[in-house]
Amino acid sequence: MNSRLSFLLILLLIIVPQSFQGSIFKTFSSTLTPKSPPSSLVFPLSGNVFPLGYYSVSVQIGSPPKTFTFDIDTGSDLTWVQCDAPCTGCTLHPSLQYKPKSNTVPCSDPLCSALHWPKKPHCPDPKEQCDYDVHYADQGSSMGVLVTDQFPLKLMNGSALQPHLAFGCGYDQSFPSAHPPPMTAGVLGLGRGKISFLTQLVSAGLTRNVIGHCLSSKGGGYLFFGDSHIPSTGVSWTPLMSQENHYTTGPAELLYNEKPTGLKGLKLIFDTGSSYTYFNSKTYQTILNLIGNDLKGKPLKDAKEDKTLPICWKGAKPLKSVLEVKNLFKTLAIKFMNGRRNTQLQIPPESYLIISKTGNVCMGILNGTEVGLHDSNLIGDISMQGIMMIYDNEKQQLGWVSADCDKLPKS
Ligand SMILES: *[C@@H]1O[C@H](CO)[C@@H](O)[C@H](O)[C@H]1NC(C)=O
Ligand SMILES: *[C@@H]1O[C@H](CO)[C@@H](O)[C@H](O)[C@H]1NC(C)=O
Repeated sequence: MNSRLSFLLILLLIIVPQSFQGSIFKTFSSTLTPKSPPSSLVFPLSGNVFPLGYYSVSVQIGSPPKTFTFDIDTGSDLTWVQCDAPCTGCTLHPSLQYKPKSNTVPCSDPLCSALHWPKKPHCPDPKEQCDYDVHYADQGSSMGVLVTDQFPLKLMNGSALQPHLAFGCGYDQSFPSAHPPPMTAGVLGLGRGKISFLTQLVSAGLTRNVIGHCLSSKGGGYLFFGDSHIPSTGVSWTPLMSQENHYTTGPAELLYNEKPTGLKGLKLIFDTGSSYTYFNSKTYQTILNLIGNDLKGKPLKDAKEDKTLPICWKGAKPLKSVLEVKNLFKTLAIKFMNGRRNTQLQIPPESYLIISKTGNVCMGILNGTEVGLHDSNLIGDISMQGIMMIYDNEKQQLGWVSADCDKLPKS
């Protein structure tokens, strides 16, 4: 058995940049003039930070509809599903994979160009299929062909619709072998690019260009499209950097126990495809030093034998919950300096620590430099638990407010 027990994902698209086109948002209101105002959609989530390492959503595709579970990923655009074409590197039985019909998207389609942007798709004949190959920061990849199919959806205004949306039929997957196989059927791309599930729903006039999620620390939670569930007060907002493909914010300053750490100018990407939070080596080292100093003389010892995550500590007795040691750790905070007011995102101990299977407490903030994230930092699932996060592409801002993620919003 593998010594590394945690399932660690970093679904952040790399290599092939996705198209981010501000113009989609500007033309939005004019494309909406027909009939009814956009509605919204809510999906319950399953999954957890540990031991699973992902939050997933069940979505139906096709007619008759078949249900697939997807990792929700704000760090990439393309939605893809394990596909019986047949498949190499699929983890699901062929009967549970998607079966393509003759529904491939031609390589001359604008969606194919969006998927390949800023490069051009290989397209010797305009009718040929649109191939794709996406690579993630954790070395995982999916290769396949772009297809379209119906997505039976129940909107919050009561309408049941079946929009045709494009997604990847992934017939060749490769994910790091050091980890147990993912149990989900694929990835739901929630990024800002044209090909993303969100942008396609917006283009079809179904929802506003806003998504949000609430990841429960007990596991589960919910994901929503549209702006109907955003509380009218209490939300902290910070601008999204407009020239970035990802949901990037900053510059920000890192606080520890409400005090400055001297670390400023941080750029942060919010990525539900990442189980843990990553800071670049310098920031990571500073955080480790601060925590290490605070733990001196406290009843926690290094647990080098625990390989769950790079740094674990052992208590006098095996621990069951982070709450048992919460008082030994301090709250980190990200202070945004570009907002009108001083806006902070608090990261309390339960949003950066996990309890391993042997009852040790482990550090869920990892070294981003080690995984190739040099100038960006990633805020992963662990640090977004117990809050409603809102990605508003119309107002180009990111919001958060503490929320009860176990309670699904009603229409
Ligand atoms: C619900 O919203 C959708 C998307 O705007 C629209 O097509 C549909 O007609 C609406 N249904 C009702 C009952 O208003
Ligand atoms: C982070 O990773 C980089 C690259 O592997 C390494 O050089 C550096 O020492 C690491 N930093 C810490 C604090 O472990």
